[in-house]
Amino acid sequence: MNKPNYYDNIAQIYDQTRWLTESVAEEVADFIIALTRATPATSFLEPGVGTGLNVLPFVKRGYAVTGIDVSQEMLDQFRQKLNPTPENLKLIHGDASQLPFLDNSFDVVLTIHMLHTVSDWRAFLDDIDRVLKPGGFYLNCQWITPPARRDFEGYFREILSKYQGLKPETKPVNSTIEEIDIEGYLTQKGYVSNYLVAKKWTVSNTVEELLTVFKLRAYGLCWRVSEEIYHQLMNDFEEFCINHYGSLNVILSSEAKF
Ligand SMILES: C[S@@+](CC[C@H](N)C(=O)[O-])C[C@H]1O[C@@H](n2cnc3c(N)ncnc32)[C@H](O)[C@@H]1O
Repeated sequence: MNKPNYYDNIAQIYDQTRWLTESVAEEVADFIIALTRATPATSFLEPGVGTGLNVLPFVKRGYAVTGIDVSQEMLDQFRQKLNPTPENLKLIHGDASQLPFLDNSFDVVLTIHMLHTVSDWRAFLDDIDRVLKPGGFYLNCQWITPPARRDFEGYFREILSKYQGLKPETKPVNSTIEEIDIEGYLTQKGYVSNYLVAKKWTVSNTVEELLTVFKLRAYGLCWRVSEEIYHQLMNDFEEFCINHYGSLNVILSSEAKF
């Protein structure tokens, strides 16, 4: 558990890479509370809780929330948002593939953009099934990058691919996500499964803001070349952005869903 992971490296800037704002998270929490008919006694678990973007509203409203994450740095970022850590929040540094909880422990389990990170998602879902109380809710959300950001990343990838010393392409995250058939898994187990949209909103960023996140090497693909090459690459990418978008102050907007 002492080995630093990718999320340890980017924990301080992780929130900048996301598009879930605090107010949207509050509205999503309203939706989940209504959906699960939560009472003050309802307990929530988020494996891969990260910096707490999703569960912070539940903690603030007094619900019992447990978060588990393999990255100590991500958990530290969460703790800093609520110093001191309130009694209704329990944060555990550990591997969520083996949930350290008794059977039937939680009313609601949430996984947000983390299923693709566990080595065996079926075994992981079996374990979630085990710790959920009978009649409990399992909610999963997988982020899809908003289109304007996806295009921006596509331009970055094109420039990245021109640089020598490139490590072989690892399996794209999206193909890993597509292989996860939660609906099939739940149906096979005899559960009811629904696809629901809790909230739609517009994500807007200037080109400069997105560029800054790439300059900070916030994504896995930014680590495929050395520091020196990355510096040259970012100069090229900035020049490309000025030519392509006309200015770094241009605002890029697209729809996001939770
Ligand atoms: C993309 S982040 C998502 C964080 C948070 N759920 C969110 O929506 O902002 C994935 C998180 O899962 C954590 N993670 C990945 N594999 C894990 C594992 N096996 N056990 C616990 N946490 C894990 C990472 O450390 C990271 O904090």
